Amino acid sequence: MNTSKNLFPHDHYVNASRRKELIKQKPLLIWLSGLSGSGKSTIANELEKKLFENGYLSYLLDGDNIRVGLNKDLGFSDEDRKENIRRISEVSRLMLDAGLIVITAFISPFEEERELAKSLVKEENYFLVHVDCSVEKCEERDVKGLYKKARAGEIKNFTGIDSPYEIPKNPNLIVDTEKESISESVDKIYTAITSQIK
Ligand code: ADX
Repeated sequence: MNTSKNLFPHDHYVNASRRKELIKQKPLLIWLSGLSGSGKSTIANELEKKLFENGYLSYLLDGDNIRVGLNKDLGFSDEDRKENIRRISEVSRLMLDAGLIVITAFISPFEEERELAKSLVKEENYFLVHVDCSVEKCEERDVKGLYKKARAGEIKNFTGIDSPYEIPKNPNLIVDTEKESISESVDKIYTAITSQIK
């Protein structure tokens, strides 16, 4: 039921710009998109560590963590993935409003949902990183053993096998985890965003 016509959102005294002054950083959403096993979580974790060591307050939202809590009612159909990303985008919007630098690590396979995230948080607050790695390489790594299960038919709708991944058309940055080390990818992202968060 849509009751939004009877709702009256109001402004608060302690708002985004007052919080920004207090914590002395500019919020930014760093959105990592890529196949399972491409290195999103590892990069996100190292990037957050680097931000922390440099005095930035951040929060990391990661697919495998969020899917056991907030989004535990969602599976991997196209519809559920879209809802997964819609909720994450809304949560990110709140966290940006709170003043945080938000890092998200979700496959986020659809251009339309990534565009939705960008429009929800506004383009200037959104930094899309394509964590690029071929399916072949991800499958060879198979850190979680999921590609093997997908090939055996034990997991359906697995991204890159029997569910699509739409390559981001206009990412702010591409990191290639087949060629770069984790620290190279992290440094590239950190260098690219520093001017935006100061
Ligand atoms: S998304 O497509 O909705 O953005 P999300 O990043 O939240 O996906 O979750 C992906 C993680 O769920 C993978 O890293 C993997 O560990 C696990 N997973 C389980 N089933 C699938 C599946 N069918 N396709 C992709 N990932 C899956």
